[in-house]
Amino acid sequence: MNDKSSDENETGEGRRRFLVVATSVVGATGAAGVAVPFLSSWSPSEKAKAAGAPVKADISKLELGQMVVVEWRGKPVYVLHRTAKQLSSLSALTDQLKDPTSVSSKQPGYIKGESRALRPEILVVEGLCTHLGCAPKFRPEVGAADLGGDDWQGGFFCPCHGSKFDLSGRVYSGVPASENLVVPPYRFESEYVLEIGVDSEKA
Ligand code: FES
Repeated sequence: MNDKSSDENETGEGRRRFLVVATSVVGATGAAGVAVPFLSSWSPSEKAKAAGAPVKADISKLELGQMVVVEWRGKPVYVLHRTAKQLSSLSALTDQLKDPTSVSSKQPGYIKGESRALRPEILVVEGLCTHLGCAPKFRPEVGAADLGGDDWQGGFFCPCHGSKFDLSGRVYSGVPASENLVVPPYRFESEYVLEIGVDSEKA
């Protein structure tokens, strides 16, 4: 995995460049957020990626509870390795969500259930708020005081106008966004190789 997470000892131009990329594209690092590394895809070429080709990413080192960002078609795609506890918290949220079963939200037909994922532990969603397109922050801290206290089971918070999403990218009621975060087409080429931009054969 070639991640560009900041190194405490790194200084100078390289660090500044990383920070510019991270804050302008991800927007997920901040006082109330969690540092989210960018995960470089290793194929295809930059030119092909710009044209919309699928991208592959090695997720073998993605630890439990960790999220990385992969760029696809110029968009950030969030890849989150959810814990069993995080997954078990999803079913209790149904009454607080606008579209708990993703009836009116964009996702491939093979994505089903509250996990909204091919493999329940790995969430893959576009990191663009469905209100006006800001990048939601990853806020996994259960009980975060600024996000509802005891009711908050972790999820994503959009700093632009306050939309909140759970750890499956499902939007909460009472916020400006009306749809869940979009699940892009993807598949697993192998256990640890994720390919975004290609539909899974699962139906
Ligand atoms: S863009 Fe996210 S709440 Fe408006």
